[in-house]
Amino acid sequence: MRSKYYVTTPIYYVNAKPHIGHSYTNIAADAVARFFRLKGVDTYFLTGTDEHGQKVEKAAREAERPTQEFVDELADKFRELWRLLEVTPDDFIRTTEGRHIKAVKYVLNYLYEKGDIYKDSYSGWYCVPCETFWTEGQVEKINGKAVCPDCKRQVDELTEENYFFRLSKYQNWLIDYIRSHPDFVKPEGRYNEVLSFLERERLNDLCISRPKSRFSWGIDLPFSEEHIAYVWFDALINYISALGYPEKTEKLEKYWPADVHLIGKDILRQHAVYWPIMLHALDLDIPYQVFAHGWWLVDNKGQAEKMSKSRGNIVDPYTMVDEFGVDVYRYFLLREIPLGVDGLFSYDSVLKRYNGDLANDLGNLVYRILSMAEKYLPEGVVRFEARPKNRLIESLFELKDKVDLEFSSLNFYDGLASIWEVVNLANKFIEEEQPWTMRKEGRIEDLQRFMYILLEVLRIIAACIYPVMPSTAEKIWQQLGIEDDILSVGWEGVFVWGEIKDGAKIEKFPPLFPRREA
Ligand code: ME8
Ligand code: MG
Repeated sequence: MRSKYYVTTPIYYVNAKPHIGHSYTNIAADAVARFFRLKGVDTYFLTGTDEHGQKVEKAAREAERPTQEFVDELADKFRELWRLLEVTPDDFIRTTEGRHIKAVKYVLNYLYEKGDIYKDSYSGWYCVPCETFWTEGQVEKINGKAVCPDCKRQVDELTEENYFFRLSKYQNWLIDYIRSHPDFVKPEGRYNEVLSFLERERLNDLCISRPKSRFSWGIDLPFSEEHIAYVWFDALINYISALGYPEKTEKLEKYWPADVHLIGKDILRQHAVYWPIMLHALDLDIPYQVFAHGWWLVDNKGQAEKMSKSRGNIVDPYTMVDEFGVDVYRYFLLREIPLGVDGLFSYDSVLKRYNGDLANDLGNLVYRILSMAEKYLPEGVVRFEARPKNRLIESLFELKDKVDLEFSSLNFYDGLASIWEVVNLANKFIEEEQPWTMRKEGRIEDLQRFMYILLEVLRIIAACIYPVMPSTAEKIWQQLGIEDDILSVGWEGVFVWGEIKDGAKIEKFPPLFPRREA
């Protein structure tokens, strides 16, 4: 078993309010963090905001606001959304904080003194929305205008004196490292993409500064009065500055290297190429894994396109939560598509999951079990052992390893699918066993045993969905009359049969997920 688990999300640009895409990464990170906490693993979950760079400064200017005020306000919007979505980070790092600036300056000095940073003149192109440099050979031309090869938006031409980080020096080291660490990048398709890119192309050294004459919203280079740090070089360091780096703090010693950097596939290269090289040059350990998930797309007149702040086609998470509630929203994002592929976001697909998986399957199961308990157990619960084992009980215990395997590796899609197999099996069990017949025939002990199995099944199912739907899970436990909370019982404890007490009186509650019309 792992002794600790450190999970991070990207730190988001504060050029606009968060949208569904950002909430996706943070909900997935929260679910895995909650799962490890449930398993009793010492877990650290970091998120935050990326507040420097041209894109953020431009947004503040357009809003006619002082930049610091503008970023303060937006950082709060992100924080607020995480609170609403029951996303529970252990820390929230902002790149404008002193602790971060100090770490970035330390890194710059260290690499400069080591000779891994040098000055040169630079001529090329810059994409502001992507905050990325491109060479003449990399840009594409549309109608004679140079555009970003990633996002196809117009790029600006630059010729400047700048500072460069020797990425190229470490290219072969990185290729060897990635080859010998097949889990370093997930999913597998992304691993192959990074490796073949590194094997195919010679890395350019990374331009890590911007001249202040052009633009100054960033961290001063300690060795040049005329430059600030390139926003990506600054931002990646958050994963260690938040732990106290360069101080050898307890946190840093305990949690570094990260277990997983969860990101979207848009920023894979920065995390799987720049970042490990920066760390290696700093003589620090490399994170175990970079997991790059897919994109939520939205329909634009029949074309699926990436939801993005810069494109202005975003869906507001607040609207979805108002409509469906936090847990439904969390469930939808993690159940609809496997982490790694793209998905089309629409109101109708959320509604379909709601009416199907939640109203029909889980909600119905909870409602039936509680109503039957109220009706068939007027004297309270009668406790039985989990013997003889029927198919339902067996599948319930098999769930333990399945969910563990899938949730630990961020595969919520399959993990939730296996939980729902048991939900459906339990609904079927009710049909097959026909408790109403047991009652009519006066088979009271059979009926009590049947009820006890179902109550325990429900208790365990609820605990399994806790990482994804924390409030729903706790609510089901309360409705079952369980006083302990799921987290304090822990993953092992959850699977100990018989937590529901002899004599407990159980009543029915209104349906958790009432069916909705389209
Ligand atoms: O790139 N679908 O910040 P950013 C899924 N500051 N996920 C999406 C998404 C979508 N349509 N849109 C955004 C940056 N995301 C840098 C990161 S890290 C050291 C610096 C999520 O505000 C996804 O996690 O552009 C993606 O990688 C991230 O937001 C990009 O956020
Ligand atoms: Mg982006």
